Amino acid sequence: MPYTVAVLIGSLRKESLTRQFVEALKGISPEGLKLEVVEIGALPLFNADFEANPPAEVTAFKQAIEKSDAVLFATPEYNRSVPGVLKNAIDWGSRPYGKSSWNGKPAAVVSISQGVLSGFGANHHLRQSLVFLNMPTLQQPEAYIAQVQTLLDGKGGFVKPETKGFMESFLKAFEGWIAKVKG
Ligand code: FNR
Repeated sequence: MPYTVAVLIGSLRKESLTRQFVEALKGISPEGLKLEVVEIGALPLFNADFEANPPAEVTAFKQAIEKSDAVLFATPEYNRSVPGVLKNAIDWGSRPYGKSSWNGKPAAVVSISQGVLSGFGANHHLRQSLVFLNMPTLQQPEAYIAQVQTLLDGKGGFVKPETKGFMESFLKAFEGWIAKVKG
């Protein structure tokens, strides 16, 4: 049985390049990984008043994370940090206190940018939360994707064999990491 990987996309727009990148990843993922996007766009803004008795969207979101073997965060960078929509999903998943859906789940991060700085700020701000959430996170290879608009072929694949090869090695390393963490 392949590992089920919940993929969270830190952009809600229809033409999201991050989402297109994730779709391309699905086409090259190893047999041992099943990438499944878990949508975050219907989650309300986090409000601690409702964490003990949350809206149905939140309950469904937490269940989707809990039944997955691992989590892949694919995110653009907003103002050198994590987009609010992704942080909002992370915050909902972490509550109520003591009932975090993230605890112990192996994770990996890919940051995506149309610029040359490749979302480094978002990638590492996200990693700061993952430390606290006790998500053992793939360290190497790191995936910082610059100028993503030049890398996608518009047909669900990658333009350059180098990008495809690198992302194949990233996903293979993630598969090995999940196996290691889960014992
Ligand atoms: C951005 N963008 C951006 N890019 C970047 O490399 N570093 C940054 O700090 C920011 N900041 C930023 C803030 C806000 C509010 C927006 C809307 C955009 C550009 C952004 O990464 C780019 O539009 C991506 O294409 C967004 O990802 P999707 O929606 O294509 O997946």
